[in-house]
Amino acid sequence: MEKLIIAPSVLAADFSKLGVEIEMLNESKADWIHIDVMDGVFVPNISFGFPVLDAIQKISKKVLDVHLMIEKPEQYLSQFAKLGANVITVHYEACPHVHRTIQQIKDLGCLAGVAINPGTPTSVLKDILADLDLVLIMSVNPGFGGQKFIPNAIKKTQEVAEMAKNVNNEKLKIEIDGGVSLSNASDLIQAGANVLVAGSFVFSSENPLNTIIDLVNLGK
Ligand code: DX5
Ligand code: ZN
Repeated sequence: MEKLIIAPSVLAADFSKLGVEIEMLNESKADWIHIDVMDGVFVPNISFGFPVLDAIQKISKKVLDVHLMIEKPEQYLSQFAKLGANVITVHYEACPHVHRTIQQIKDLGCLAGVAINPGTPTSVLKDILADLDLVLIMSVNPGFGGQKFIPNAIKKTQEVAEMAKNVNNEKLKIEIDGGVSLSNASDLIQAGANVLVAGSFVFSSENPLNTIIDLVNLGK
């Protein structure tokens, strides 16, 4: 198995001390920082955009994993890359020309990911899977942190892992996002997940550094 990557989501951080929160993640065992960008159109919420990403990239020592929950993401890819995004994930549901969008992300030198909502079957990934660096399986409906995990994501993880084998994409990262905690992480890893996003589970815990270690240890 690929190394397990933990990606805390800053959506659950305290924005009044974002710098302190990023320094904490820099010192943590997390390899990635997950950045949720929402436009109020693709999802019923607005989070943050370029200035906040710019502030994060100036102090982050981690891989910046940018999850775009926005319409027309292709219009903004180069700006996200310029601001330090290392991984850019777009939603299948927001991209009529998803194959082209994936190539655009790669041409910018970033890892390319495609996310699918809970209501979208894994079968839509079939013809793009060989080109992808990452598949993000939403285990909640996107838009908000702190929602309840939808267990169907475990079955979808197995399906994507199997599909990846069939197209010889052994390096594919399978990322799960939404409601991830110690109560479902082992099942997800078992099913083939190798990147776990955790927002409220990390930031609402008493000791986020230890919570991240607990999650990292599941991959050992
Ligand atoms: C939801 C976001 C998630 C969110 C996860 O739309 O994509 O990344 O921050 O938060 P938790 O872990 O609290 O469900
Ligand atoms: Zn996310």
